[in-house]
Amino acid sequence: MNDRLMLLAEGLTKSFFQNATEVEVLKGVNLQLAVGEQVAIVGRSGSGKSSLLHLLAGLDSADSGSVKVDGVDLLAADANGRARIRREKMGFVYQQHHLLAEFSAQENVAIPQQLLGVGESSARQAARDMLALVGLEERLNHLPSELSGGERQRVAVARALVNKPQVVLADEPTGSLDRTSAELLMDLLSNLSRAQGTSFVVVTHDVSMLQRFDRVASLEAGILQPLSSLAE
Ligand SMILES: Nc1ncnc2c1ncn2[C@@H]1O[C@H](COP(=O)(O)OP(=O)(O)OP(=O)(O)O)[C@@H](O)[C@H]1O
Ligand SMILES: [Mg+2]
Repeated sequence: MNDRLMLLAEGLTKSFFQNATEVEVLKGVNLQLAVGEQVAIVGRSGSGKSSLLHLLAGLDSADSGSVKVDGVDLLAADANGRARIRREKMGFVYQQHHLLAEFSAQENVAIPQQLLGVGESSARQAARDMLALVGLEERLNHLPSELSGGERQRVAVARALVNKPQVVLADEPTGSLDRTSAELLMDLLSNLSRAQGTSFVVVTHDVSMLQRFDRVASLEAGILQPLSSLAE
């Protein structure tokens, strides 16, 4: 870990409107993530964890506040600029995995490589290698509908990691996994962090995972605060 900031979020606010009723989800969230740092975010269902991750990746825009990725202001960039920053620097694991239904596991994982301009055979090889790392070398040609929930989740993680991003945002990446598979996946993330200096923000409900992280923050009443008792 070093002192350079990979991600800096300041004063993020976000409300949703439902039938003219305003739901204030984020009320001024601050987050600093150093290069190589691993932070877990916990919080009750509906507390805004997924909403926050979407803002950090520029997948949705905040009502106010700023997000800088490696010093670049994400929310000031246009949609193309944000897509480029995501492609070049970020890996994102959606809570609902969002794999493309008509593509195989290997094709799903190869797509981010191809978007970076990597040739097809190299992209397929990188996808195969990454799927092997998450234990799915025997499932390369399966469609998402032909995979178990935990397998789909691991494909989504492989897709997020294949471009060797500087920062990975993962929304409950171990939610459908048994203990052993969850531990293996977290080991993979820790090893990447050590080997490549990758930074991580991981939303998790799994209390047994928390001691693995450098820091744990809790999203409560729209504010992100340190969860000091578990983080020590
Ligand atoms: N597009 C939307 N329109 C209206 N309300 C929304 C929208 N997206 C999220 N919300 C509301 O914002 C709140 C936070 O949702 P979010 O998905 O961020 O919670 P979460 O902490 O990720 O929950 P979980 O642990 O269940 O995944 C919820 O009350 C949800 O109903
Ligand atoms: Mg969520």
